[in-house]
Amino acid sequence: MILFLCFSLCKSQLHPIPAKIDGFVYKKPIVWGESVVVEAFLDPVCSDSRDSWLPLKQAFDYYSGQLSLVVHPVPMPYHSNSFTACRSLHIANKLNSSSFYPLLELFFETQEKYYSAPTYGLSRAIIVADMTKLALTVVGESFSTAFQSGFNDSSTDRAARISFKVRII
Ligand SMILES: *[C@@H]1O[C@H](CO)[C@@H](O)[C@H](O)[C@H]1NC(C)=O
Ligand SMILES: *[C@@H]1O[C@H](CO)[C@@H](O)[C@H](O)[C@H]1NC(C)=O
Repeated sequence: MILFLCFSLCKSQLHPIPAKIDGFVYKKPIVWGESVVVEAFLDPVCSDSRDSWLPLKQAFDYYSGQLSLVVHPVPMPYHSNSFTACRSLHIANKLNSSSFYPLLELFFETQEKYYSAPTYGLSRAIIVADMTKLALTVVGESFSTAFQSGFNDSSTDRAARISFKVRII
């Protein structure tokens, strides 16, 4: 971890402290001191993350009121399209905050087509266009232009990196 931090500093990739705590709260706001907070680090195109999502939701419902759930979208480096998927989630949240969880679930349902092998011959532009089309079904079609611009907005790139770094620290 020390090496990692050093690398970040040397590469001048030190980001400002985020404006708020990282992560997306599931359903109910956290009441600090009242409930146990479970922080889940999920990769939208990872099968293990997908498989853990239903049990996590069941635990949340079972311990209703005693458990808070916070999801951090984390792009694992060995899933080639994960960073784009995580960035889509941040763009979705920025445009329509109700769409974060519907989009996460949509990624879990359709993630196989974004695995590294089936997309080997596809350009990043094609993946971005495909994920945009997918996302708009839950974000709202009226956000089409804004969603595409979201991929050129450095704040969504930064947000996707921060979740990844939080996992390491
Ligand atoms: C925002 O997302 C939610 C969940 O997908 C959806 O029901 C709602 O219609 C969206 N809002 C707009 C303005 O499209
Ligand atoms: C985003 O940036 C790319 C590459 O710089 C450019 O080709 C594209 O037109 C831009 N898209 C939008 C919606 O601004």
